[in-house]
Amino acid sequence: MMNDQPKKGKQRFPDHFYNSITYVGVALSTVILGCEFFLFGIDFLSSSHNVYLGLITYVLLPPLLILGLLLIPLGAWWKHRQVLKGVGGGYRKLIVIDLSLSTHQNAILVFMLGTAVFLTMTAIGCYKAYNYTESERFCGLTCHQVMKPEYTAYTQSPHAQVKCVECHIGSGIGWYVHYKMAGVRMLLKTINGSYSKPTPAPVETLRPAKETCEECHWPGKSFNAIQLNKIYYADDPSQTPPWTIKMLLNVSGGKNGQAGIHAHMYYDDDIYYVPDDLKRQKISWIKAVNKAGVARIYRLKGSPYKEIDPPANKIRKMDCMDCHNRPTHRFEAPDVLINRAIAEGSISPSIPMIKAKALEALSKEYLSTKEAIEQIRFRLNDYYSKKLVSYYGAHKANIEQAIDHVIGIYQRNFFPEMRSRWDAYPDNIGHMISLGCFRCHDNEHKTKTGEVISRKCTSCHIITQQGSGANTQKDPDGLPFLHPFDSDESFKTMNCSDCHTGM
Ligand code: HEC
Ligand code: HEC
Ligand code: HEC
Ligand code: HEC
Ligand code: HEC
Ligand code: HEC
Repeated sequence: MMNDQPKKGKQRFPDHFYNSITYVGVALSTVILGCEFFLFGIDFLSSSHNVYLGLITYVLLPPLLILGLLLIPLGAWWKHRQVLKGVGGGYRKLIVIDLSLSTHQNAILVFMLGTAVFLTMTAIGCYKAYNYTESERFCGLTCHQVMKPEYTAYTQSPHAQVKCVECHIGSGIGWYVHYKMAGVRMLLKTINGSYSKPTPAPVETLRPAKETCEECHWPGKSFNAIQLNKIYYADDPSQTPPWTIKMLLNVSGGKNGQAGIHAHMYYDDDIYYVPDDLKRQKISWIKAVNKAGVARIYRLKGSPYKEIDPPANKIRKMDCMDCHNRPTHRFEAPDVLINRAIAEGSISPSIPMIKAKALEALSKEYLSTKEAIEQIRFRLNDYYSKKLVSYYGAHKANIEQAIDHVIGIYQRNFFPEMRSRWDAYPDNIGHMISLGCFRCHDNEHKTKTGEVISRKCTSCHIITQQGSGANTQKDPDGLPFLHPFDSDESFKTMNCSDCHTGM
């Protein structure tokens, strides 16, 4: 132990404050206070906000500052104990505050000043820390690698201006604390690398849509029918004209008092269900309760709740997120992305086999984004320069542009470091690539009297146009679905997602 004894005469503070623990405390808090003033300054003055600056200033340093400040009285208390035990000579029984002594006046003055500065800093700090931890930069960028997929998808979604916390936390102090504690656990997992890849969807812990989505969206808003225009390209779009489908989605309820997609659960019925798995893809018990309070229960054949009702804590009331589960983190499927890029003209349909080749390059599993970029470029270049030599010679620029675009698509939708891509997260809005609506609408869930939840194609939408080139049919009253490019009828009994995997 170093010599802690103050030199008499120069002494400004009571004896107890002269000890190594207090010295460490003073040194630590002075250094950190200095840093904090400096960083505060930068953060206030600069217009571009740096994530790590915020993390250091408002999250990491304040606890260290508190530790430093606590060490000061702790040292004094320790010294007092030592003195009581007779270590180091003298014997004093009590800490006596004597205002006639200048050393004591100094100590109190420093203590009061320190406290005032500290409380002011704490108030500003807490406010800044609160704002900071609520910002989408904090949520999206702090754990850069872990959140990169969700953050990237979010910045390109219709909700890019909505803060993460407005969907993930909502209002109220209870939920704030609840999620911040979960956040701390996640931060620790990030630091020691024990997080799961991909990040599991927080379906169990998300707040009910009533307290998040419905703060902005009004469930009663009428959308009437929403028109979908789909264009599908064949493997070789330079040879086969695209297939188009125009359909009207009956979102808010239609003519003849037919229930709409939104209406069926907001005006006519409340729907409750029990998921059998964590991703809520298998549903074997469903209850619809109408406004008169009459309930209909639909069960799947092998349902564990054939005779008995499920326990209340397993039952979920259906809300927005049971259909719109990917309103902002959309990792889209290669098939969808390539069709769109060709339709928009960023990939030329005149390049032979471009759809098949682009799909093949995108769907391979890569270990890192870097590897993916190199491989995609290499594969496509290799194919066109070796297999289609003369075409390549004449259309090099076109092919280069297509390759750049495919790489761009990869970077926005595939995150091999986190194993996040379209097939890691089912999207429940339709029924093409994941089961979606067909989880319940499958003609298999039955009431005791044999009623089913309908899979009839016209219960949700009508097709007003379909076909390819000259063979295009149109009818504003609706057409029976033709399976594109062949006359296969297995869609009538099989699920679309049994064959359509998105690749
Ligand atoms: C419009 C609402 C909304 C906003 C804004 C939002 N999220 Fe989400 N987020 C969700 C929903 C809903 C889920 C659950 C998805 C599911 O069940 O498939 C989710 C899931 C996640 C997941 C789990 C992994 C996954 O992909 O399912 C992470 C991580 C996440 N969000 C992070 C963020 C971050 C970071 C931000 C801000 C940059 C953000 N979220 C903004 C609604 C939102
Ligand atoms: C803070 C307000 C806010 C919250 C919270 C919010 N949204 Fe939105 N949402 C918007 C705005 C604004 C738009 C319109 C964006 C545009 O049109 O450019 C939008 C658009 C949408 C759309 C249509 C666009 C599309 O194609 O996806 C859907 C669907 C949607 N939100 C669902 C949800 C769901 C589900 C939640 C809850 C998980 C939610 N929203 C939470 C503000 C919000
Ligand atoms: C039964 C499934 C289901 C539920 C539950 C549901 N929606 Fe929708 N919603 C749809 C479908 C399907 C569409 C048509 C657009 C599409 O396919 O993306 C749609 C369309 C929308 C749109 C317009 C999107 C656009 O492209 O303009 C908004 C906004 C929206 N829903 C918000 C909500 C909100 C908020 C809730 C909860 C109060 C909710 N929805 C509940 C299925 C549902
Ligand atoms: C959790 C199960 C469940 C899911 C998932 C679900 N629905 Fe439903 N839906 C029902 C039930 C149950 C009914 C019948 C309500 C009743 O019995 O009154 C219904 C009825 C409907 C109706 C009215 C049907 C008619 O013939 O009048 C429409 C439209 C509809 N749903 C659209 C959708 C769409 C679109 C999706 C997917 C985005 C979807 N539903 C997902 C359970 C579900
Ligand atoms: C329970 C409601 C419901 C039923 C029943 C239903 N669909 Fe759909 N379907 C939807 C919704 C919702 C979408 C839109 C998804 C989206 O926003 O992309 C859709 C999209 C589609 C698409 C466009 C797919 C795409 O993503 O490219 C086709 C094609 C289609 N449906 C055909 C059918 C056929 C054929 C049937 C009958 C076997 C059927 N649907 C039954 C709700 C339904
Ligand atoms: C038995 C397997 C199978 C089933 C089930 C199936 N399809 Fe297909 N579908 C195919 C095949 C194979 C193609 C041709 C792909 C090609 O030539 O590019 C195709 C092509 C399509 C296309 C156009 C090409 C594209 O890019 O996707 C659409 C749209 C489509 N199917 C919709 C549906 C819908 C909607 C359902 C469910 C109602 C369905 N299919 C069920 C196998 C199936």
